[in-house]
Amino acid sequence: MTVLQLLLPGRAEVGNLTTDPEPAVQALADLYAYPEPVPARGWVRANMVSTLDGSATGPGGVSGALGGAADKATFHVLRGLADVVLVGAGTVRAEGYGVPQADPAFTERRRSRGQQPAPALAVVTRSGDVPAGLLDGTTFVVTTTRADLTRLREQAGPGQVIVAGDDDVDLDDAVRVLAGRGHRRVLLEGGPSLLGQALAAGQVDELCLTWAPTLVAGGGPRISHGPEVNLTARPAHLIAAEDVLLGRWLVQTVPNN
Ligand SMILES: NC(=O)c1ccc[n+]([C@@H]2O[C@H](COP(=O)([O-])OP(=O)(O)OC[C@H]3O[C@@H](n4cnc5c(N)ncnc54)[C@H](OP(=O)(O)O)[C@@H]3O)[C@@H](O)[C@H]2O)c1
Repeated sequence: MTVLQLLLPGRAEVGNLTTDPEPAVQALADLYAYPEPVPARGWVRANMVSTLDGSATGPGGVSGALGGAADKATFHVLRGLADVVLVGAGTVRAEGYGVPQADPAFTERRRSRGQQPAPALAVVTRSGDVPAGLLDGTTFVVTTTRADLTRLREQAGPGQVIVAGDDDVDLDDAVRVLAGRGHRRVLLEGGPSLLGQALAAGQVDELCLTWAPTLVAGGGPRISHGPEVNLTARPAHLIAAEDVLLGRWLVQTVPNN
């Protein structure tokens, strides 16, 4: 039984994902709503899951199954609210990504905000090694001048290759281009190296973090790595879902904004 209990701010029952999933999902969507109006420069929300001992991966080297039903529901809610899912190619390959599909639970909400039925996928890559099944004409490939742009443009479709940088994708540029194309509600699904760079670029407005009730030790990555940063965050909400904790944290210091 997955009952969602708001712990902060205040205390209230959010809903019951097992017995009454539809209202529970809509209540979660209200709690995770993007700011309105969404800033013209875009709003970048990262969504990650961590074990209690700080690993971003569980057994098998993937994160997908770590947070159980509550994390899965939140993952779908965050996609239901987003214009674009921005993700590193490492995660796409490790987690076997597909193209995000329209979720009927969000049809009305998306229509009222003028959003496409489903969020677009934007894969960040240097190598251009993006699974062919993702390149359906809607997925963006965000890459550098060093990539094989002719091949990528043929595979991804006209206008779907975003070139932002020479050696590394410059995330400021990438988010600016996506926002300019109407994809302002950005959902960054990792992985740790992309999140680390986005934090260093001052591009992360909020972090949605699930604490999974698991300890794995081993050598798994933290949820972000890369250049050192010094950012603080304050909780917009904390939700208990049985043994899982769901947090929404607003990042306070955004150096480049
Ligand atoms: N706990 C969680 O919430 C969570 C979330 C996501 C992923 N994960 C886990 O994290 C692991 C993957 O970690 P990761 O850090 O390697 O993933 P990642 O950040 O998704 O992928 C790294 C790859 O993304 C591309 N990339 C990243 N930054 C780039 C830049 N600035 N310019 C150009 N390309 C760039 C490169 O792709 P190319 O190699 O194609 O050049 C790079 O090799 C997996 O085990 C996954 O399961 C955990």
